Amino acid sequence: MCGIVGYAGFRNVSDFLLEGLHRLEYRGYDSAGIAVLSETGIDVRKRAGRVTELGMLIESQPIPGSVGIGHTRWATHGEPTDVNSHPHFGGSGEVAVVHNGVIENYDSLRKQLQQLGYVFRSQTDTEVAAHLLAHHLNEQIRLEGLGGSGEEGLDTDLCLKAVEATLARLKGTYGLAILFRECPGTLIAARCGSPLVIGIGENESFLASDASPLVGYTKEVVYLSDNEIAVLSQSALRIEHRHTGKVRPSIQTLSQVNSDIELNGFPHYMLKEIYEQPQTVENALRGRLDSEEATAVMGGLNLSAKELRRIDRIVLTACGTSWHAGLVGEYLLEEFARMPTEVEYASELRYRNPPMSDRTLVFAITQSGETADTLAAMRECKRKGHPTLAICNVVGSSIAREADGGIYLHAGPEIGVASTKAFTSQVTVLTLLALYFARMRHMSFPTGQRIIKQLRNMPEMIQKTLECHDKVREVADRYYHFNNYLYLGRLYNFPVALEGALKLKEISYIHAEGYPAAEMKHGPIALVDEQTPSVFIIPRGAIYSKVISNMEEIRARRGPVIAIACEGDLDVARIADEVIYVPEVEEYLQPLVCAIPLQLLSYHIALLRGCNVDRPRNLAKSVTVE
Ligand code: AGP
Ligand code: GLU
Repeated sequence: MCGIVGYAGFRNVSDFLLEGLHRLEYRGYDSAGIAVLSETGIDVRKRAGRVTELGMLIESQPIPGSVGIGHTRWATHGEPTDVNSHPHFGGSGEVAVVHNGVIENYDSLRKQLQQLGYVFRSQTDTEVAAHLLAHHLNEQIRLEGLGGSGEEGLDTDLCLKAVEATLARLKGTYGLAILFRECPGTLIAARCGSPLVIGIGENESFLASDASPLVGYTKEVVYLSDNEIAVLSQSALRIEHRHTGKVRPSIQTLSQVNSDIELNGFPHYMLKEIYEQPQTVENALRGRLDSEEATAVMGGLNLSAKELRRIDRIVLTACGTSWHAGLVGEYLLEEFARMPTEVEYASELRYRNPPMSDRTLVFAITQSGETADTLAAMRECKRKGHPTLAICNVVGSSIAREADGGIYLHAGPEIGVASTKAFTSQVTVLTLLALYFARMRHMSFPTGQRIIKQLRNMPEMIQKTLECHDKVREVADRYYHFNNYLYLGRLYNFPVALEGALKLKEISYIHAEGYPAAEMKHGPIALVDEQTPSVFIIPRGAIYSKVISNMEEIRARRGPVIAIACEGDLDVARIADEVIYVPEVEEYLQPLVCAIPLQLLSYHIALLRGCNVDRPRNLAKSVTVE
């Protein structure tokens, strides 16, 4: 959830750590801190609140040194207070630890450690790991003596053994970065379930929970896998697997550049990312449209045509916005490929155990590739022998690496916590997938060609859609004070309604519910009054007139209506209080245009209510805890 950053080299480490923490802010957090290894021991500065506040603390109380670790916390155990912020000391300060994840057996470990005399200062589960490390370190010293000479400090092997002994006792998930007071120049990292990436520089080594803090410092990176422990120092990197021993690091090239993670003149990442969508949809399509065969090119599925033809059911699993994209995917795959498709919440699928035959193909849909529930659901499906593929944005992420194959979104880093461009890219990729499966089965050549032509046109349609921005701003001005909203749509626009409502909830903290427009008369209509606006997604389509009737039902109960409709639709204008026009596209492509005014609407309402658009309260960009 949170962010981890670490460094061993020659730079003033607190500058690097602070910059790294700023770059990780988008992941969502409530407190931040750093620890620096110096000749006199380990110094810690930490506090609840923003990284800027931590920066001010460090400015007034600087800590020199060139080896250190940093953390942005997303509290799971214990409130976000200064004391609960990471790093945490173990024992009497011989170890400092930052942790991402949850230690599930912390309660029993805490009791055992208390009996041994360890004093707990925080309410976190993490402090258990810190004391355990100190405990096992002291055990090792007792058994083996100090190792290395007293002058040079502790032998790294001894520290490594303490780490191994500690990890053997932890249950749950962790990304850990550890400093040992007596082990100069070194930091140790360990991973189980929470991502960590190592950067290799000249006479320096970097560590982070995602690549963004490393951008501009090095292009050579190594992604740690579960059960691996890394020892980083100025001149060396050593990786051990807890069960199989030494690992030869597989060095990969980082393709992100600075401009990907900068605002480029936009006031917020969310707005920048909304505006990137013509380009990101184009990137998702690039090289994947084959007009000659009238199909999509899906190079990375790693399944033969024969294997793919055997598939008789698809399960799409995801969380949040990615789950909404999955719902659009279900409609697409069933309509075009006639492929029975189900969309499962990953958090449910991981425990639910539905019957699935060996002809079922599973797709995990995820922007970050690190969502713990999605990763667990994917592993569960793999364990049962299903081919398991990923639709993922972040190259090198855990899900991308563990999947049997998949499709990258190529949307570039998404920094705003509210997902926008990833949604439209996911829907684009799912449309390609539907075309691909359809052309393997029932779809004719001319239909395939027509779809390709329409898809090619989408970046331009999305560009045109962005012209609705001024109108959306006006609507936001008139409606931002309402505290309850309904979002209503049917068929392809039902998932769009869910997504619109989620966007509003996430960043403006307004209660909003998405519903299939016709379903609202079975209950939610009781909520409708002058104070409850309904946002109708009502572009022209097969059941347009039915949705018009649903809209009349709301008007009859004095509910204000904001409609997203096709350019020039005067019928909607006669009924709705506000109309935001979008270009007319085929029904199956409507989510790609209709999602955009809803993203903009939530953006402006959140701004008008004084909310932090890019870093909404309580949320994290990638949810790496269960
Ligand atoms: C989207 O706005 C949310 N922040 C959230 O629902 C997100 O989509 C969900 O956590 C899944 O993330 P993923 O796509 O990175 O797996
Ligand atoms: N479970 C730890 C805590 O509550 C770490 C949470 C995190 O991943 O930030 O402090």
